[in-house]
Amino acid sequence: MTTRTAPLPVPAELDRWRRDTPGCRDRIHLNNAGAALMPQVVLQALTQHLEREAAIGGYEAEDEAEPQVREAYELLGRLVGTAARNIAIVENATVAFNQAVSAFDFHPGDRIVTTRADYPSNQLTYLSLAQRLGVETVRADDLPEGGVDPASVRRLASHPRTRLVALSWVPTNSGLVQDAQGVGAVCAELGVPYLIDGCQAVGQLAVDVTSLHCDFLAGTGRKFLRGPRGIGFLYVSDRMLEQGSFPLFVDMRGADWTDPDAFRLADGARRFENWEFAYALLAGLGAAVRYALAVGAAGRNRARQLAGDLRPKLAGLPGVRVLDRGREQCAIVTIAVANRDAAELKLRLRQRGINTSSADRKSGVLDMDDKRATTVLRFSPHYYNTEDELDTAVGVLAEQIRP
Ligand SMILES: Cc1ncc(COP(=O)(O)O)c(C=O)c1O
Repeated sequence: MTTRTAPLPVPAELDRWRRDTPGCRDRIHLNNAGAALMPQVVLQALTQHLEREAAIGGYEAEDEAEPQVREAYELLGRLVGTAARNIAIVENATVAFNQAVSAFDFHPGDRIVTTRADYPSNQLTYLSLAQRLGVETVRADDLPEGGVDPASVRRLASHPRTRLVALSWVPTNSGLVQDAQGVGAVCAELGVPYLIDGCQAVGQLAVDVTSLHCDFLAGTGRKFLRGPRGIGFLYVSDRMLEQGSFPLFVDMRGADWTDPDAFRLADGARRFENWEFAYALLAGLGAAVRYALAVGAAGRNRARQLAGDLRPKLAGLPGVRVLDRGREQCAIVTIAVANRDAAELKLRLRQRGINTSSADRKSGVLDMDDKRATTVLRFSPHYYNTEDELDTAVGVLAEQIRP
C-alpha cells in the first residue's frame, strides 16, 4: 500500500524534457544524485567535439572550439552568479575542492571548521592534513532538527587559528540542505575564508555565490546539472584571486615559468586548472548548463516536489525508515529498510529497470551512526521524472521487501 497524496501539477514542458532525454524511454532513473541522464544536446555536443578531434586532431579541434569554450565559462558563471574569469574547469568536484584547500599554507595548530555532514573525501582530506601538517579539524554542532548550526560555526571559527570554514551544502547521502548562506554570513562577519562543496546542490538549488558569501564553490558536471562524467568546476572569488591565492601544485596552465626561479600566475581562476583538458567534456558541460538555465526554477522546484511526494510514500512501506533530516530538504530521499541490505535492493530494483543508489557507513560515518543506519537506499528524482515513475518504484520496492 502506498500513501496517496494530491497529484503534483504537470508542467507544460514535461513532455519535451522527457523527449530530450533518451534515457527516460527505457528506465526509471532515480539516481540523479549519482549521475543524471544527459539530455540529447549534451550527448551531441560531446560527440561532435570528439568527432572533430578524430578528424582534424585534438589541439586543432581545441582551437576551432574556442568560441564554445569561452561560452561554457560564461554560462557556468551565469549559473552560479559570477563572471567567466572566476570559474576554473577541473576533473570533478573533489579535485575542485582539493585545489581550493591546497591554496592555504597550513601550519601545525591551524584550524579548519567543518560540519558533521561533509562529504567523505573532504573528511579524508582533513584527516590527511591533520596527519601530514598537524592541522586541527573541528566539526560544528548540528541543529536539533539536523544540519549545521551557524551559531556553532561562529563559536568555533572565532578561534584565532581558524584558516578556513568548509561545508558540504547538500551531503551525499541525505536530503538535508545545510544553511550555506547562514554559515556564509558568519564567515563574512569573521573575515574567514569559506569553501562550499556544492556538488549535490548545483542543478537542483539556485546558486548565487555573492549571497552565499563564499570564496570557493566546488561543483561537478554529472549530477543534477545533467552534464557528462569526469568534469567539474571551481568558483574562486575576486578576493582570493586578488590575494594571490593559487593551488599548491600549480601547473603551466595556471602559471607561466618566467625565469629559472620565478613564475607568474595566470589571471583569474584559470590558475586552479590543469594543462591537459577534456575539451569534449567541457563542450558537454556547456550544453548542460545552457539546458539547465533554460529549464530554470521550474525544474528545480519540480525535483524537490517529487522528492517531497516520494518521502511519505516510502515511509508508508513496512520496515522503511526515511532518514532525511533538516529544516530544508532537497531532491534526495534516503531510506533504511529493516533487515535489508541497500546494495542488494538497489540491484533488485535495477533488474526491474529502476535506478537508485546505495551507500554504507563509509559514505558518512557520523551521519550513519547518528541515524543508526548501516546501509541506505537513495532515490534522487529530477524534473523529468513523473509521479507514475515514483509510484512504480515504490510498488516494486514494496514487492521486494514484503516479509
Ligand atoms: C556532497 C558531495 N561532494 C562531493 C562529491 C564528489 O564529487 P566528484 O565525484 O565529482 O568528485 C560528491 C559525490 O557524490 C558529493 O555527493
